[in-house]
Amino acid sequence: MDKHLFLLGFMGAGKTYLGQQLAEQQGLPFYDLDQMIENQWGKSISALFEQMGEASFRQLEADALRRLAGLPVGIVAVGGGTPCFGDNMAWMNAQGLTVYLKMPVSVLLARLKSETAQRPLLKGRVGDALETFVHQLLATRSVYYEQAALVVSGDNLLEQILFKL
Ligand code: S3P
Repeated sequence: MDKHLFLLGFMGAGKTYLGQQLAEQQGLPFYDLDQMIENQWGKSISALFEQMGEASFRQLEADALRRLAGLPVGIVAVGGGTPCFGDNMAWMNAQGLTVYLKMPVSVLLARLKSETAQRPLLKGRVGDALETFVHQLLATRSVYYEQAALVVSGDNLLEQILFKL
């Protein structure tokens, strides 16, 4: 691999889990964009969101993403919203291989139901309201996610990606 591999997808799609597996398998560094932001600012994503608001968070996120250009080639898990702001998606497509982990909304919801407290966009949403929100957000975001060079879904996600490297 001579360029970064960017894993994209909705919250709960498993970007970090798959990214770690892929990095280990390939003997490459693993970068988690949320983690990079938390390390740089010494605060959780929830705290940053709360203190500065979403628009400023998106700026930190775009800056952190661009810092990857100076780091050794590796596997990058970006945030669920990263591809959907500014020209982040075009930047990632120019810098490396983008891979969309496309998961059914039922799977996402099952995973996210118990994690709403730690996720700033989902905080306080339950039941039907959570379901409607996830459906709608996924629909708007899919337009960006689908611009990925590779879309993987179903079983054997790791194998599907390795096959393309
Ligand atoms: C967000 C997803 C989160 C994190 C932040 C915003 C989003 O990342 O960046 O809470 O807008 O979908 P994960 O997708 O890794 O949970």
